[in-house]
Amino acid sequence: MRDAIAALPGSKIREVANSAIGRDDVLAFWFGESDDVTPEPIREAAIASLHRSETFYSSNLGLPELREAIARYVGSLHRPCPASRIAVTSSGVSGLMIAMQALAGAGDEVVAVVPVWPNVTAQPAILGARVTRVALVPRAGTWTLDLDALLAAVTNATRVLVVNAPNNPTGWTLTRDEQLAILAHCRRTGTWIIADEVYERLYYEAAPAAPSFLDIAEPDDRLVVANSFSKCFLMTGWRLGWLVLPERLTTTIGHLIEFNTSCSPVFVQRGGIAALAHADALVRQLREHTQLCRDTLVPQLMTLPGVQLGNPRGGMYAFFRIVGHDDSLALAKRLVSDGIGLAPGVAFGDEAEGWLRWCFASRDPARLLRGVERLAAALR
Ligand SMILES: Cc1ncc(COP(=O)(O)O)c(C=O)c1O
Repeated sequence: MRDAIAALPGSKIREVANSAIGRDDVLAFWFGESDDVTPEPIREAAIASLHRSETFYSSNLGLPELREAIARYVGSLHRPCPASRIAVTSSGVSGLMIAMQALAGAGDEVVAVVPVWPNVTAQPAILGARVTRVALVPRAGTWTLDLDALLAAVTNATRVLVVNAPNNPTGWTLTRDEQLAILAHCRRTGTWIIADEVYERLYYEAAPAAPSFLDIAEPDDRLVVANSFSKCFLMTGWRLGWLVLPERLTTTIGHLIEFNTSCSPVFVQRGGIAALAHADALVRQLREHTQLCRDTLVPQLMTLPGVQLGNPRGGMYAFFRIVGHDDSLALAKRLVSDGIGLAPGVAFGDEAEGWLRWCFASRDPARLLRGVERLAAALR
C-alpha cells in the first residue's frame, strides 16, 4: 500500500459515535446533517424517474437539463454562468476530489485554510501533494482569518489554495474584501483556488448567499467552486453535487468523472432538478429554520460556565470550547456517557484541539435545548 494511504487517519467523529453503538439514549449532534428528511417534491421526482425506468448510465457531466438548471441557479445568485461551465458530481466530496485530482499531483504544494472538514486536506494528501496549513485564529470564541499569513503562505510554488467558507466547523465566513485580496494574489502566483461553498445558502446575514468567489471572478480565472445538494436541500444521502469550472476544464473533468463514478444516477439527478425548481421556497424555509436552531442553541450555550463561542455567521455548527477541558476527544467520549453526542474539535485539525462541534440543524429545536440541559448537567 502507498505510504500516503497507510497514513490516513480514521475519523475521530466516527470514533466518538462508535463509542455509543448500542445506545439509543444519546442525543446525537456529531454528524454534519439535519435529522429532517428530504422535501417531498424532490423525493417524488426521483420516484417518478424510477417508475419511468430511468435506471441506466447517463452522460459524464450530468443531464443537460440539470446542468442548465444549476447554471440558472448559480447565475441567479452570482454572475451569469453558462451550463458549459457546470459538471454534475456524485456528491460534493466527489466533486472536490475530482477537482483536486485535476489540479494537484505528487509533490505539488497545496495550501489549506484550517481548521476544516478533514476531507479537503486528506484529498491532496491521498494524491501525494504536500499540504501547508494556514490556521484561522480564535479570538474570544470567534475564528478569524489572518489574511497576511495566508497571502504569505501562497507563493509561486503553490499549485492550489483550498478554502471552505462558510466554514465547517468554525462558522467563519470570508468577507468580500478578503476574497478580492485572495483572488488578486492567486492571479499573481498562478495558484488555483478550490472554493468549497457548500454552505453558501446557510448564511445568516441579510443576503441570499454568503460572499462567493463566483461574484468577483472572471469566467477564465483559475477557480473551481464546489457545491452540493446535501446541506441546502436536505439531500445528504443522495450524493449529488456540482462544480463550477472555467470552460477550458470542463471536457477534461468529464473524462475524470468517467474514471471516478462515470456519472450520477439519473433518478438522483431528477431529484436535483426538482430541488432547483423549488429552490426559492425550499432554501428560504430551510435557512429560516436553521437560523431558528442557531438562535435557540447559541445563546443557551453562552450561559454555561466556562463556555467560549461566537455566533456563527454561516454554516450549521456551533463551535465552542469549555475552559479547563483541553482534550476534545476524551471530553466528547465522556459526554457520550452523559447522553450527548458532539464532534471533537481535533477531528478538524490540531488547531482545533480543545474545541467541540455541535450540529444545530435539527427538525425539532427543543431537542437542542434538551442537549444543553444534558451538557450543563455533565459539566456540574
Ligand atoms: C465543508 C464541506 N464540504 C463538502 C461537504 C460534502 O458534502 P457532500 O459530499 O454530502 O455533498 C461537506 C459535508 O459535510 C462539508 O462539510
